[in-house]
Amino acid sequence: MSSALHPDGKLNPADTIANPSSHETIRDLIETRLFTRRTFIKGSLGATALATVGGSLLSCVANDASAHKYKGDHKPVDQQPDIGFTPVAPNVIPMTDAVTVPAGYTARVLVSWGDSLTKAPHWDPSTPMDEATQVRCYGGHTDGMHYFAFPFTGHGALASKRGLLVTNSEYVDPALLSGVAPAADYAKVAITPEMVKAQQAGHGVNVVEIYQEKKQDWEVRRNSPFNRRITGNTPIVVSGPAAGHAMLRTEADNKGRLVLGTLNNCANGYTPWGTYLTCEENFNGYFGSVDASFVPTAHENRYGLSRAGFGYRWHEADPRFELSANRNEPNRFGWVVEVDPWDPKSKPIKRTALGRFKHESAAISVDADERVALYMGDDERNEYVYKFVCARRYNKRNQHANRDMLDNGTLYVAKFNADGSGTWLPLIWGQNGLTTENGFADQAEVLIKARQAGDRLGATMMDRPEWASVHPSTGEVYLTLTNNSRRGNTPVSSNKADGTTTAATANPVVDAANPRPDNDYGHIIRWREDGDTVTATSFVWDIFVQCGDKATTKALAGSYTNAEFDGQNVGYQGNINGDDYGAPDGLWFDKHGRLWIQTDQPGDAKGDWANIGGNMMLCADPTTGETRRFLTAPPHAEVTGLIGTPDGKTMFVGIQHPGEDWATSFTDHSTWPDNGANGPTTYRGRGVAKPRSSVIVITKDDGGVIGT
Ligand code: FEO
Ligand code: CA
Ligand code: CA
Repeated sequence: MSSALHPDGKLNPADTIANPSSHETIRDLIETRLFTRRTFIKGSLGATALATVGGSLLSCVANDASAHKYKGDHKPVDQQPDIGFTPVAPNVIPMTDAVTVPAGYTARVLVSWGDSLTKAPHWDPSTPMDEATQVRCYGGHTDGMHYFAFPFTGHGALASKRGLLVTNSEYVDPALLSGVAPAADYAKVAITPEMVKAQQAGHGVNVVEIYQEKKQDWEVRRNSPFNRRITGNTPIVVSGPAAGHAMLRTEADNKGRLVLGTLNNCANGYTPWGTYLTCEENFNGYFGSVDASFVPTAHENRYGLSRAGFGYRWHEADPRFELSANRNEPNRFGWVVEVDPWDPKSKPIKRTALGRFKHESAAISVDADERVALYMGDDERNEYVYKFVCARRYNKRNQHANRDMLDNGTLYVAKFNADGSGTWLPLIWGQNGLTTENGFADQAEVLIKARQAGDRLGATMMDRPEWASVHPSTGEVYLTLTNNSRRGNTPVSSNKADGTTTAATANPVVDAANPRPDNDYGHIIRWREDGDTVTATSFVWDIFVQCGDKATTKALAGSYTNAEFDGQNVGYQGNINGDDYGAPDGLWFDKHGRLWIQTDQPGDAKGDWANIGGNMMLCADPTTGETRRFLTAPPHAEVTGLIGTPDGKTMFVGIQHPGEDWATSFTDHSTWPDNGANGPTTYRGRGVAKPRSSVIVITKDDGGVIGT
């Protein structure tokens, strides 16, 4: 995420930290928060009324009739989840070029970028990737994932031995994929359509059948009829209120109902009816223009579209990504896409009712009344948290009846009030200023311009909302806020109500929900719906943790000092009960209520990260906050994407972009995984050509549940 290809907000030299405007206000807010925290915790420990479809329960629900018991007779989980492992040390300099897990656990590579999903040979990483190879091989930059237990393998042991692993391939490193070194040369080489097609093929979704032959030995079933790549060029149906809208029509698709491809698929979700949700995040970076006179509209600025893009240069060889020629093509990205992994011939569907923004995750919750909601983050500095409530109830007796649930419902955006309450503001055309005179001609335009609709409603600007996850028994929703280098900057500004703010350019003041200036290390927020029903329009919230480095001597910039916060450690030191980390991103509750947290910072163990080290995955107890470091990643790798098997004895984890930000040689920073540090790979015995994003399998050596 430190890369320009996945910007984290640290690339803008205009970002400087300056004094906040009002210190008295901040002190008041903190005092209010301390009070609210006590009431929130009290309330959250007692109740188990809200049943949710969480974690590995999904595959049971979707595939196994005996597991449809998540509602009334759902067994409450232990309030104190069993966390029994000894934490691993942080991966500080000199960094270990491996995935490290606690004693008694094993982490092995399952599948890497370029591994064949058919009987045809694996990609040879010493050569540039081409489209024909990439469309049949595992995609680039693995991210969010889910495990769908095989139907008919029954509940219990077999369900945890054969399944479909469905994963996102978020983006690619164009120079690495196209074999251009040094990296800086990518800006100068001639871009060909073949290069662009190969890169587009590296994006999207992977459906991979996997099975466990022997204890600890998971493998990809090559040539499975279920294996599938969905790429940046796969035809995808548009459905919901914005389907066919004028803003989605292009010359190639004058009906506005069929898009080629899904891009920048970051985090994910899954439904109780057995489908996978993939979320389109930084789609803006693929577009650009060779036309020097190109000037973005306010709408394009609000979504971060620019003449330069992120440096992929696709627009130079693929006219679809040339902004001046295809003004509507970007409106066809930024959606949640539903995929049926069980039907390889099915077209994925862009569900426009869920709104258009830089989607990070789509965490589903089903309440005791069978009502369904999805919680979603828009990952950019100063963007919003959203909820979609389906109009219909979940029908567990007829899964087919649920198939278009995501086309009908209400989208809300969150307002976090200073007193610990919150409000879901509906994005409904004709209400609260979402009117024609304010730039919204109809409901479709409200959804296509969801960010501007949130601006108009006065939603709370957040510190980069990433993943959400729902506690399996309390129904409380936890959401990572990864960082915000603009929080507390001067001159103070907010996203303008008229929707004309260029993405990530406002300088919001600290507020109760985002209480730190220069929020380098991020935090995790949580909320509970009023009445424990997902249809509620109000909630209570609290900050679960402020991440940081207890050993840092770095002081808050400007006139902020820790002393101003009455002993609450809201400086860079954070308030973690246990092992330090920062930039929380991936988040997942297992069915026992353990909270797994993954991080996405530069991964080089330098500067702000010297003590924390590289990226990692931690396990936290949501009731006590106790946090232990479970896994550390190779240098310059992000840890993103995770899921367990229904029996909890296998966990799959994504290791994205090892060795990112290389300059001279592909292997400047990492030779993982082909260095063999985590078991054999498909390139074993042939040296190391390039670091490759991979999914690893974690098992416990005694065959026990992961985390115990
Ligand atoms: Fe792709 Fe927000 O991480
Ligand atoms: Ca990321
Ligand atoms: Ca992410």
